[in-house]
Amino acid sequence: EFQEKREYLRVNRLAAKYYNHCLLHTREGSKAMEYIKERGLTAETVEKFYLGYAPPSWDGLIKFAHFEGVKIDTLEKIGLIIPRKDNKGYYDRFRNRLMFPIEDVTKNIIGFGGRALDESMPKYLNTPETPLFSKGDNLYALSMIKKDPALDTIVVEGYMDCITLHQYGFNQSVASLGTALTKNQARLLKKYTDGVILSYDADEAGKAATMRGIDILAQEGLRVKVLNMPNGKDPDEVIKTYGPQHFQKLLTDSMDFISYKLFLAKKDINIQTHDGKLKFIKRAVDILTGVDNEPELELYAKKLASELGISVQAIKKEVQRRKL
Ligand code: GTP
Ligand code: MN
Ligand code: MN
Ligand code: MN
Ligand code: MN
Repeated sequence: EFQEKREYLRVNRLAAKYYNHCLLHTREGSKAMEYIKERGLTAETVEKFYLGYAPPSWDGLIKFAHFEGVKIDTLEKIGLIIPRKDNKGYYDRFRNRLMFPIEDVTKNIIGFGGRALDESMPKYLNTPETPLFSKGDNLYALSMIKKDPALDTIVVEGYMDCITLHQYGFNQSVASLGTALTKNQARLLKKYTDGVILSYDADEAGKAATMRGIDILAQEGLRVKVLNMPNGKDPDEVIKTYGPQHFQKLLTDSMDFISYKLFLAKKDINIQTHDGKLKFIKRAVDILTGVDNEPELELYAKKLASELGISVQAIKKEVQRRKL
């Protein structure tokens, strides 16, 4: 089995090399290169992330792999090809896509993400579950960040977000690949850092994923902050629209997750009214039951108390009561 995995890894690397070659040195690849330039990525970034291009052909990779003496079974096992419906032969899974090799922490290539260059669906196609690749057990670019508890790690949704951040010097960035952060990903992160800044898309899916992500990360003992993304935008768009300095400012201003939750809890409530106050207090107390550090709880309670014109004791008492 160990030998098998070694062969799978070798073939994934070969495939990455093939895709990279197609991007850099073929006629078809030049339109993918144009796309990459349109999205503002540099040649250096292409190299750093070993980006590639899967040509439109149904058997480009199959032919290349055959030439390299790779067994067809191997290609199927690692998800690079798909059996035809009539069971006569195979075709390449990734066609006419910009390719993102996905590394594990030891820099082995375990899978790929492929982005369509036009409006064809799905926008992103990933390697399916294989003996090497399991989506919820890896983070894109984790192998590139520094293992340093003192440096906060920026967690984003997408490949493009992560890559753009690196290009502009935000080197402690990783992507959770889609929106659902898992417990295993949180555990992995904890090995690299003590603090995380969640920077998901400011759309409904991203906001929901932020709320779930907060609790998963906090449960693994990570310090969690949330970046307040401009509405409808993602990190890549923020940098392209407002510049890297603006993103830096958003990072600096990012809120600890309790403040973020309190901020959201207040959003749709008018706390000038009696009912509004009660409603907000109920939500706030719920949120504060998640704070088990006494001085910290005191700080939040003080802030809330002055905001609502009630006593710190009343809030703290209610939090204690709710915890029971
Ligand atoms: P760009 O349009 O290239 O900027 O992509 P994006 O990263 O902004 O896309 P989006 O915010 O929609 O998705 C975030 C991440 O979720 C992507 O980078 C992918 O990892 C994943 N994702 C998005 N769409 C799909 C999809 O159709 N299928 C799968 N499997 N994953 C997707
Ligand atoms: Mn999407
Ligand atoms: Mn999104
Ligand atoms: Mn985007
Ligand atoms: Mn996005």
